[in-house]
Amino acid sequence: MFKKDLLSLMRDDPKDDRGFAFFQGTEENGMIRRGKVRSPATGKTYAVKNGYLDAMGGLGADNIANLSNFLPGAGRLYEPLWRINSLSLLTGEKFTNEREIRLMASLVRLDEGGVFLDLGCSAGLYTRHMANRLGEDGEMVGLDIAPGMLKEAARRARRVRARPSFVRADAHDLPFADFAFDGIVCGGTLNELGDPARALSEACRVLRPGGRVAIMGILEAESTWGGYSQKFLSTGGVQFFAPEELQELLTGAGLAPDPLLNHGPVFFATATRQG
Ligand SMILES: C[S@@+](CC[C@H](N)C(=O)[O-])C[C@H]1O[C@@H](n2cnc3c(N)ncnc32)[C@H](O)[C@@H]1O
Repeated sequence: MFKKDLLSLMRDDPKDDRGFAFFQGTEENGMIRRGKVRSPATGKTYAVKNGYLDAMGGLGADNIANLSNFLPGAGRLYEPLWRINSLSLLTGEKFTNEREIRLMASLVRLDEGGVFLDLGCSAGLYTRHMANRLGEDGEMVGLDIAPGMLKEAARRARRVRARPSFVRADAHDLPFADFAFDGIVCGGTLNELGDPARALSEACRVLRPGGRVAIMGILEAESTWGGYSQKFLSTGGVQFFAPEELQELLTGAGLAPDPLLNHGPVFFATATRQG
């Protein structure tokens, strides 16, 4: 599903000032259920099906870690097998999904309302809960590169009666107009991206001035054993950041970072887009 009104924010050529248009298909209460949308800039059409707008076509996994998200069943199993306990396991504290979502919502200033992007949404944990929290005060867009994750995200959103929009795209090349969003949340995805600097400058481009970004991720290990296991994971394309490296990445992207918050190896990085 994709909200028809949000097509005005979509671009396959960021230099063009015209958004996508609904081309054909079925629409219900302002949400496109299935069909095609068209870019006036390039004349290309993109399908809406399986609960999301596919702004990519093709496969598009750039490393092994990312490829694992394409495996059959990965979408269905991700939350019950890992995500539900991930922050408690990583931090050693009782860190429920509810606590994490509350924290991320306050860091990105969700309660001020507006249009928000969940970058690398997987099965849509933040997307659906933040969509319900926003209610009439805003819109939530979940973006991921993995079709199975998006299909599962749409299914889980329907189960809690949330109405976010989902789009398949590459975080390194966002299909949105400049200044499209009031805020961006990103949970765990920065560690999986091939080029985090490029993805963050894309994030900055699509944020309005004063817009916020809130990123949760995993820091570089301090212990020798932690270092060994991270070295092993790095061969699959996952990367871990030192605190100062994160702040440099955010600044390099054109964002003004706040002091980093961390719970053990889990970081919460926030920043604001300047003028
Ligand atoms: C750690 S998971 C995200 C977890 C999710 N944010 C949550 O809170 O449950 C990383 C996600 O990023 C997606 N991803 C990896 N590379 C991507 C890219 N280049 N563009 C968009 N999504 C990407 C993967 O498909 C995967 O679903």
